This record gives sequence, C-alpha cells and structure tokens, in this order.
Amino acid sequence: MDTQDLKTRFRQMAQGALSLNVAFIGVVNGLFDALHASAPMTSDVLAQRTGMDAGYVLRWCDAAYAFGYLDGDNGQFHLTATGQAMRPGAPDTLMPVAVQSVLSAHMAERAAGLMRTGERPGESALAERATVLPWFGPMLEASFAGLFEQTICPAVPVFAAVDERGGLAVDLGCGNGWYLRALVRRCGRLRGLGIDGFAENVDHARRLAQEQGLSDRLDFVHGDIHQMVLEEPADLIAMNRALHHVWEKDAPTLFRWLHDNLKPGGYAVIWEPAWPDARAVLREPGRPGMAFQNLSEHVQGNHFLRPDEIAHACSEAGMSASVYLFANGAEAVVVAQRAL
Ligand SMILES: C[S@@+](CC[C@H](N)C(=O)[O-])C[C@H]1O[C@@H](n2cnc3c(N)ncnc32)[C@H](O)[C@@H]1O
Repeated sequence: MDTQDLKTRFRQMAQGALSLNVAFIGVVNGLFDALHASAPMTSDVLAQRTGMDAGYVLRWCDAAYAFGYLDGDNGQFHLTATGQAMRPGAPDTLMPVAVQSVLSAHMAERAAGLMRTGERPGESALAERATVLPWFGPMLEASFAGLFEQTICPAVPVFAAVDERGGLAVDLGCGNGWYLRALVRRCGRLRGLGIDGFAENVDHARRLAQEQGLSDRLDFVHGDIHQMVLEEPADLIAMNRALHHVWEKDAPTLFRWLHDNLKPGGYAVIWEPAWPDARAVLREPGRPGMAFQNLSEHVQGNHFLRPDEIAHACSEAGMSASVYLFANGAEAVVVAQRAL
C-alpha cells in the first residue's frame, strides 16, 4: 500500500472515531432518546426537552446530521436508521461502541502521560470522566448480557446445576448488577448479593433491581472485594471481568477466600477476557481491542490473564477447575468447584 492509500485509509479511520465521538455526546445527554420519543423537532426544542444548552445542541445537530445520525428538513430533525440504532434502548444497541471509543481516548491520554513515570493510579482513572462513569455499567451490560444468556448459560452446565440447587449467588465486582439480574431471572430459587467498589455502581444496581421487580431477591453493597465478609457461605461466587482488577494485589488469598466462602459442592464462576498464549493471536479479528484494553488496564493496576493461570489458581486453592471458551476463544469462563 503506498503512502497516499495509507493516508486515505487512516483518514477514514479518523472519521469513524469522530462519528463515535458525536454519538457519545448524544447518548450520554439523552439526545437520541428524546428524538426517538416524539415527532421531528428543532434543535431548540431538543435542547428544552433534554435540559441542555441550545447553542451546544444546535452544533451537535449539525454534526449528527453530517455523520448521518439525523435527517431534517427546515431544521426539523429526526433520527435516521443509524441514529435509531445508537439509542441506548434500541435492540442490540450501538451505544457500547460509542462509550468504549471515548473511554479508550481518555485511557490512551492517561497512559501516554503515566508511561513517563510508571505511576499506576488504579481504579480511580475510570471515574475521572464524569460523563463516562455512569455509562460503564450499561456499556458492559449491552456488550455481554446477550452472550451470557444466549450462549454461555446453555453451554456451561454450572448454571443448570445452580438452578437445581438454589441458595445464594454472590457477584464480586458486580458493576450495575446485570449478571445477578439475569441469573435470578433464570434460576427461580436463587438469591443474589453483589458487591462493588464504586458507590455509583451499587446505587445503579439497586435501582435497576427495584425497577425490574427483583429487589426482594437481590441485595447490593458497596465495599472492597479484599475486605468482603459473607454472613453465610455461597452456592455460587461469580466474578465477571473483575478478577483481573484484584489479581495483582494478592491472588492466592483471594482464591483461598473463594474456596472458604463456598458451601461444599459450591461453584466459583470466573469470566475474563482470555489473554492468548501467543502474541500473534492479538492480530486476529477482535483481538487488537483486547490488546489496547490491556494497556489501559495497566493504568488501573491490572492486566489480563490467561485462562490456564486462572484454572491453576483455582486448583492451588483446592478446587477442581474447567475452562470454557467463547467468542472465538476471546472470552473464558472458568468454573471451579469446592469438594463436596
Ligand atoms: C470491568 S467491571 C465489571 C463489572 C461487572 N462485573 C460486569 O460484568 O458488568 C469491574 C468491576 O469491578 C469493580 N471492582 C474492581 N476492583 C474492586 C474491588 N477491589 N472491590 C470491589 N469492586 C471492585 C469495579 O468497580 C467494576 O465495577
């Protein structure tokens, strides 16, 4: 490919990033939702409906029109099919791509500066962008709940076993609580307890459980996984994209805790991005994003794990482990059982 072709290709990629930036602004300020909810409207009316500044909304409408999210005659804007697909509530919404794009730009800027000193500020780096943090949970839910319910649950026998068993499921690093909501909907005799280190996530998880009529079976608490004390042993302890957040601090103690807080025959179910054995795999479709995320995880004091490392840590703690791979090997679910 000659330089001119490369320039054309990279300019097209840059246009894609700009398009997602425009979409992000509309997502987090409810602009797509407001446009969906009623007849075509001017930017002034859109500003009034969403409580936003009219000057910013006018410029956003121009940009959203330019990138094909809006159409409009005589300044009366309505959503195009792409704009509809970006609505957070749309089936299979494109929202996570827009949120991930802006979060990635933020983490890239942080990594660029921090590389000079080696400082790793930890989880707080995620909360530095006030407009991004509330969308972290919805982004993860929209990205992974479908995979969990449609593919992982039917393929991993532990979920049928837990349905049979009932009891208590604990979710460490629960985010907005989507996993426990899906689990208790599927397993009628299961109760759930979620813990998360961000109070905003816990509030969000409680609110969603209440809205969905599940708050009698679900409880959420704010706290640190490393300090967690359970009042009763659990039938299942889940960690979804949370293990890599706590691994570097003291993995052996965490795995002993998992073992000791499970009932005999209870399960630890750990879902993580599967870091590959060979670097060449990072060039495969879908994997470059994982490599970028691992760089941004470094800012937070984390790194991605190979599934066999997780399985080994389970067996070191006295639990037998099985590894299940999904999404062409990019997602690993490790199921460990405490002996009966
Ligand atoms: C990548 S998110 C995954 C959230 C959720 N499990 C999901 O799948 O949507 C990781 C979560 O772990 C939480 N977390 C990280 N370290 C923690 C700690 N030491 N104690 C409690 N929560 C923690 C974060 O606040 C965040 O919500």
